[in-house]
Amino acid sequence: MVDMDTIVSLCKRRGFIFQSSEIYGGLGSAWDYGPLGVEFKNNVKHLWWRDNVQLRDDMVGLDAAITMHPRVWEASGHVASFSDPFTGCTECGRHYRADQIHEVLWSCRWFRAVQKVLEGPSAKKNEWLAITNWAKSDGKKIAPNFPLTKSAEVPAGVGSTEYPFEGPEDPKFLKFLETLGNLIARQPDTMPLPCPSCGGLKLSAPKPANLMLETFLGPVRETATKTYLRPETAQGIFVNFDNVLQSARKKVPFGVAQIGKAFRNEITPGNFTFRTREFEQMEIEYFVAPGTDEEWHQKWIDERFAWYQKYGIRKDNIRIREHASDELAFYAKRCVDIEYLFPMGWSELEGIANRTDYDLKRHAEFSGKSLDYFDEESKQKIVPYVIEPSAGADRSALAFLIDAYHEEEVREERRVVLRFHPELAPIKIAVLPLLKKNHQIVQTARKICAVLQKRWVSVYDDTAAIGRLYRRQDEVGTPFCVTVDVQTVGDGKSPADEKVTIRDRDTMQQVRVAISTLEETMANLMAGKWEEVVKQ
Ligand code: GAP
Repeated sequence: MVDMDTIVSLCKRRGFIFQSSEIYGGLGSAWDYGPLGVEFKNNVKHLWWRDNVQLRDDMVGLDAAITMHPRVWEASGHVASFSDPFTGCTECGRHYRADQIHEVLWSCRWFRAVQKVLEGPSAKKNEWLAITNWAKSDGKKIAPNFPLTKSAEVPAGVGSTEYPFEGPEDPKFLKFLETLGNLIARQPDTMPLPCPSCGGLKLSAPKPANLMLETFLGPVRETATKTYLRPETAQGIFVNFDNVLQSARKKVPFGVAQIGKAFRNEITPGNFTFRTREFEQMEIEYFVAPGTDEEWHQKWIDERFAWYQKYGIRKDNIRIREHASDELAFYAKRCVDIEYLFPMGWSELEGIANRTDYDLKRHAEFSGKSLDYFDEESKQKIVPYVIEPSAGADRSALAFLIDAYHEEEVREERRVVLRFHPELAPIKIAVLPLLKKNHQIVQTARKICAVLQKRWVSVYDDTAAIGRLYRRQDEVGTPFCVTVDVQTVGDGKSPADEKVTIRDRDTMQQVRVAISTLEETMANLMAGKWEEVVKQ
């Protein structure tokens, strides 16, 4: 599996994703999609929209405002309880999700260095002596407050570390951290764990922090309305339930889909675009008659699980995780997460919850407007149950990108290739002239590119030799390159054959086709019909 640093560096180098405000030192909690990134993420959103809205008779779309009436967030329960527990280090000032502290410690810089020490030869004799020696040398730089940096000798009475550790929840790893935490006298209101950033032992006891970003509507702060940047797109759908019902004349079961920005004051944003404070969601609220909810929930789980695989996510890298009963929101009947094997481990890609009738009932109560639905079958008024498949556009894009990443050796050279599904690829076709000094070749290539651009995102590139141009396109996942050469246009010795070479990104196979049939051939290739085209 590729590591995240390789993905971050590829994204920056090739214009997929840049750090926000980089020239000012950057903002770790937000990312900007560059020229290729915007095409790629738009493709993710478009495929989601097409498959979940346009190709279904029981779905419609919505684009609600980001700022909503403040009462919405009271009704939804976000004001009272949309919080995560956090802990802060009083030595270095960093904050962490208290419930994720083991994972953060597992992947923090100083623990990775300690792991190397534990794997090294000096740890075989006495691991604590090896750690103490590291702490007093390299450790001082990366974990200045680590307890053993100041210790004169190996603390007495510490047991063996039982290395190797299996992962952040391995009891042996937890015992190791606790041992570190107990090496000096602790203050009563601190957590018995070291700080992932400085190694110090002054992490505060966990406290809840509301995750909503406040904003003020109106020019004068004193009289302005305080509201929030929406932390999820879902509420825009619930408050428009009746509007959609009346205008779209839908009958239960039906759903409303929305793609849009959401904002959360995450305590520990990180892992690239996986957790940010500004992100995009792709959410569905699917309204069903009570009693049919469990069946619909399962249908959506199956459907959404298949969707990621349809566009390239490998079977081994995706799984469904059922929420335990103590994890469920009090109103939820059942919830599953679709998880992806990201470089930092299995993590949520999408949540699919059976939210019962909680949301519609709460908004009816807080707004005073009925959100009942008249069920023709039972001739009764009902409050529909809601099935909510809630995905992240950024997380999906990240998963597709990681899954597409391949490295291989070709003629003793490293080839990096993004094996995107053609519909996800930011550039579909690159048109390349074999000789950029041959006017006829260049002109023909440009003409071909202009024709193809009307149907597919296509680029013309003549800024390097052909081998280099192919590698560049492989690295950004362009499924097909079209090369125009001397044979295409002819020279003094032989007439033009008016054919071009098409190269497949994954197999690097080539096929020569007539320019006159290029559009039709391309349509076949995009549909995965390489073999048929070769036969023809
Ligand atoms: N309406 C339900 C809801 O918002 P959620 O599990 O909090 O549920 C749904 O969010 C999806 O939104 C997640 O599965 C994830 O893909 C994405 N998401 C949530 N918080 C995120 C963050 N801070 N950064 C990036 N994506 C996030």
